[in-house]
Amino acid sequence: MSRSGLLVIAALLPIALSQLAGTNTAEVHPAMTWQKCTGTGGPLAPPSPPRRSRLQLALASRGVTGDTNCYTGNTWDTSVCPDGKTCAANCALDGADYSGTYGISTSGNALTLKFVTGANVGSRVYLMAPGSTTEYQTFNFENQEFLPCGLNGALYFSQMDADGGVAKSAGANKAGANFGTGYCDSQCPRDMKFINGVANVAGWTPDSNNANTGTGSMGTCCPEMDVWEANSISAAVTPHPCSTLGQSTCTGTTCSEANSTQGTCDQAGCDFNSYRMGNTTFYGPGLTVDTTQKITVVTQFVGSPITSINRFYVQNGKVIPNSNSNIAGVTGNSISDSFCAAQKTAFGDTNTFASKGGLAGMSEAAAAGMVLVMSIWDDYAANMLWYHLVFTGFLLKLIVFCRLDAPYPPTKAASSPGSWNLLGELWSSLSSGSASPNAQVIYSNIKFGPIGSTFAEPA
Ligand SMILES: *[C@@H]1O[C@H](CO)[C@@H](O)[C@H](O)[C@H]1NC(C)=O
Ligand SMILES: *[C@@H]1O[C@H](CO)[C@@H](O)[C@H](O)[C@H]1NC(C)=O
Repeated sequence: MSRSGLLVIAALLPIALSQLAGTNTAEVHPAMTWQKCTGTGGPLAPPSPPRRSRLQLALASRGVTGDTNCYTGNTWDTSVCPDGKTCAANCALDGADYSGTYGISTSGNALTLKFVTGANVGSRVYLMAPGSTTEYQTFNFENQEFLPCGLNGALYFSQMDADGGVAKSAGANKAGANFGTGYCDSQCPRDMKFINGVANVAGWTPDSNNANTGTGSMGTCCPEMDVWEANSISAAVTPHPCSTLGQSTCTGTTCSEANSTQGTCDQAGCDFNSYRMGNTTFYGPGLTVDTTQKITVVTQFVGSPITSINRFYVQNGKVIPNSNSNIAGVTGNSISDSFCAAQKTAFGDTNTFASKGGLAGMSEAAAAGMVLVMSIWDDYAANMLWYHLVFTGFLLKLIVFCRLDAPYPPTKAASSPGSWNLLGELWSSLSSGSASPNAQVIYSNIKFGPIGSTFAEPA
């Protein structure tokens, strides 16, 4: 049911872009602090001093000004881009004005992503390693906990190369992580303009419903762990393993397709969504987990290899265990291989989660290290009614507090109660093509550490 943050992303500005590193606009990455908790567990172990990491705008989101007009609107200039390799050699990827063009800003431990900024809609950023401009931070989350919270954004882990794919491109990708290259996810997105240093020119088809995007014949696949995809009325946690570990490039029909079992990745994933699992009074405005208030979401990845993914919510100091399944034939409140098999049977779905690797496959990807992606988006391809983080080897936890505090309607004060209800409104307005321009998501206070270090689990 879940969707990657992929299609989702941003509208692009017209102009030139590429896999070469350009020099027209200086690339100044915003930075935010996050914390890694120490120790072997126990409630609220003291976190380490904050680590400061740059954030990297996704390549797919960039509109770039270059000397050569490589890409305008949603079509490639065939004079400089007759094919993917020539195009990548001719076109330069330039720096980005994060705040002015994309509405991306940071302050201390908080990241704010505005939904609409000028012509740009949605954005996606990757967390870089502390002090680095060339490597993404990777996380291994087997036996770890993760706490994101909030609405209308996606926090997930993607098994991208830490260097953005530079090493394996054999010299074709000179831009690298410093320019946000190397994206991949379990939907094997084909809207990426460059994959492994090659422009996605072959078979490029401009989208009919977006002036800036299109899809080429190449897609980019890798395992993905969606920690948080939610709006005010539903939330899901979803592992998506792939039979091929790491980033891999697919072509045409070998890429995953909707409702298909082909390809290397589990596109559907195995989700736990309380509403879908039959408890319609658990998560939502005024409900057990009240989405009109700030929520902390805890995700535990138990075991190495991981054998279960557990979910807790914390609100007003109270720990709320995940709701149990109310679907006949499906029991429990956590994700395990047996839960997934029972759920697929109950819903009449093919169990691609198992055939593409199951929890063990997700665990292998985690053990290899995955990149943290934070986004806000609009799935204009699927008019998604919701939206969308990892884990290995020892007990860890990550806490993310996120807030959706855009007033809705826009004339309403951000502090007024209804403003937290933006999501449902936002998504329905997205479906009709008129999203609230003031929507934004704030991710803050990210912590990652041993299970028990940041969250007092109920006895
Ligand atoms: C996939 O299956 C779902 C549920 O049967 C359906 O609603 C959706 O339209 C299908 N998508 C495609 C692209 O066939
Ligand atoms: C939904 O979950 C809440 C909290 O676990 C529980 O109290 C309630 O009985 C559940 N409702 C249904 C219909 O299962």
